[in-house]
Amino acid sequence: MVGSLTSEDKGDFEHFMLKEIFDGPEALRQTLRGKIRDNKIVFSELKLEVQAINKIFIAGCGTAYHAGLVGRKAIEELAGIPVEIDLASEFAYRTALWQAGDLLIVISQSGETADTLAALYKARKAGIPILAIVNVPDSTIARLADMVIYTQAGPEISIASTKVYLTQLLVLYLLALYFAQEKNALPPEELMACINAIATIDQYVEKALTQQPRIKEIASHYYHANNAFFLGRGYDYPVAMEGALKLKETSYVHAEAYAAGELKHGPIALLNGDVLVMALLSQDALLEKTLPNINEIKSRGATIIVVCKESLQEHCQEYENRIVIPDTNPLLAPLVAVIPLQLFAYYMAIFRGTEVDNPRHLTKAVTVE
Ligand code: G6P
Repeated sequence: MVGSLTSEDKGDFEHFMLKEIFDGPEALRQTLRGKIRDNKIVFSELKLEVQAINKIFIAGCGTAYHAGLVGRKAIEELAGIPVEIDLASEFAYRTALWQAGDLLIVISQSGETADTLAALYKARKAGIPILAIVNVPDSTIARLADMVIYTQAGPEISIASTKVYLTQLLVLYLLALYFAQEKNALPPEELMACINAIATIDQYVEKALTQQPRIKEIASHYYHANNAFFLGRGYDYPVAMEGALKLKETSYVHAEAYAAGELKHGPIALLNGDVLVMALLSQDALLEKTLPNINEIKSRGATIIVVCKESLQEHCQEYENRIVIPDTNPLLAPLVAVIPLQLFAYYMAIFRGTEVDNPRHLTKAVTVE
């Protein structure tokens, strides 16, 4: 038994992690409830004058930080508000040049992470308003923040966060669109297209989950690997970071994420036949730049697994280990692209015989700095 639920709560699933990956679409539907009304984004939780926001700071740890990285891109791209993001554990040690109109967003599944709490205190001391994105109701961070948006993922038992990550992404996309809407930062048709895309994203996640047998099969071939790189450009890069973290946490495989363009600036020296490389291709506009990076890796003998969007498949034919994800609005691709990475981490852990729901040395809420 992990956490406070019994094994029966796993239903037909062998582990909480797998159940929670499959709970993703429902968690998204619950988090979305009430947020889109009459084709507009509604956030009754927010007491903010969006026009007056000068800059947003984001802080979080682990998976929550990775969600924040996607959020930064979306907020800057859609709403035109500058965003800075920090690992919460580092936020204390840098000079934040606060200005009037700044806002801190803290992201935390548990709402109890000490490092994230420290970031909250730092902003509070400076009189900066704090918005928390939290999953656990009435947690410390939820109580201390000025505003709270709850991710409605329900209890997450497995230590490796999966469904909550999806809901954190969803809230951040909704926030980016809300800011854009309130600032009239996007042409109405573009805003509408994004709202429509987000309203149906659960169906795309469902479709990505159908790749489960394929991912299991790939993991069964490569579970002996001891080193893995995750590569991506643009929105694929923070997803690669999350994929690497999941693999480390659950299977104890040494995994690092690199921006695809950065690989040649050093890490390429590590490539040989013993390295597994997971390459993400969900962004049409970046294909031309990323494909040559992958080809270069191939010529160094590393094993490549490509996660590619359906419409880009024809460009990936030469890669036998191919996992296809459904086509979505490229902006929202992280919600779909992370699914094969979560499943891959799960099956790698299963084949390696680790305690997947409760990996060594980790706890669900880290309450020390
Ligand atoms: C721990 C967990 C990570 C998690 C991080 C942040 O380190 O092992 O999986 O992402 O805490 O937790 P939080 O509850 O603040 O989201």
